[in-house]
Amino acid sequence: MSTDGSESVTRRGFMRTATGAAAAAGAAGTASAQDETTEGEDGGGGGGGTEEVAVGPGGSLVFEPAELEIQPGTTVHWVWDSDNHNVQPSAQPEDADWSGTEGGDDQTYNTGHEYSYTFEVEGDYEYYCTPHRQAGMTGTITVSADAGGDGSAGPAIPSSAKTLGIATTAAMVFTLGLAYFFLKYGGDYAGVEE
Ligand code: CU
Repeated sequence: MSTDGSESVTRRGFMRTATGAAAAAGAAGTASAQDETTEGEDGGGGGGGTEEVAVGPGGSLVFEPAELEIQPGTTVHWVWDSDNHNVQPSAQPEDADWSGTEGGDDQTYNTGHEYSYTFEVEGDYEYYCTPHRQAGMTGTITVSADAGGDGSAGPAIPSSAKTLGIATTAAMVFTLGLAYFFLKYGGDYAGVEE
């Protein structure tokens, strides 16, 4: 009884440690995911909020962020950080009528320019900067009632957080797997040696 008893205590102790470590890793992953999502949300809190997009930040030929997921009623605010850019839609839902920056393809704007549009119609939008379209200066906006909000909505979680989630899950599986083998084979060894 004493041998079995102490063994059980050891096993339970190990299990507790392993489970605790896995739980801590899981909690860390969740916290990070929420931080990143909140950051992207920019305090907007869904419909009625504002999301900012930098146009050509530091002279680069990109929109930053290039991909946005927003709730209907969210205003996207583009701010020019370098010269000779515009925002022109290439695709949008049928019943939307977004036309991008004034002047169409022929008109570009310089550092300091600002342009806003409030997206009401749900669906997928794609846009580009006319002079730099071939250089990959494009962006997408997904308008969905499921987007963002409390940080738990799947589609709003950035890919880096998804990667972290996968890594966390792998770590948990590995830890629990170790515990399983310890319990199964560790216990048998002790029994044989006795
Ligand atoms: Cu551009």
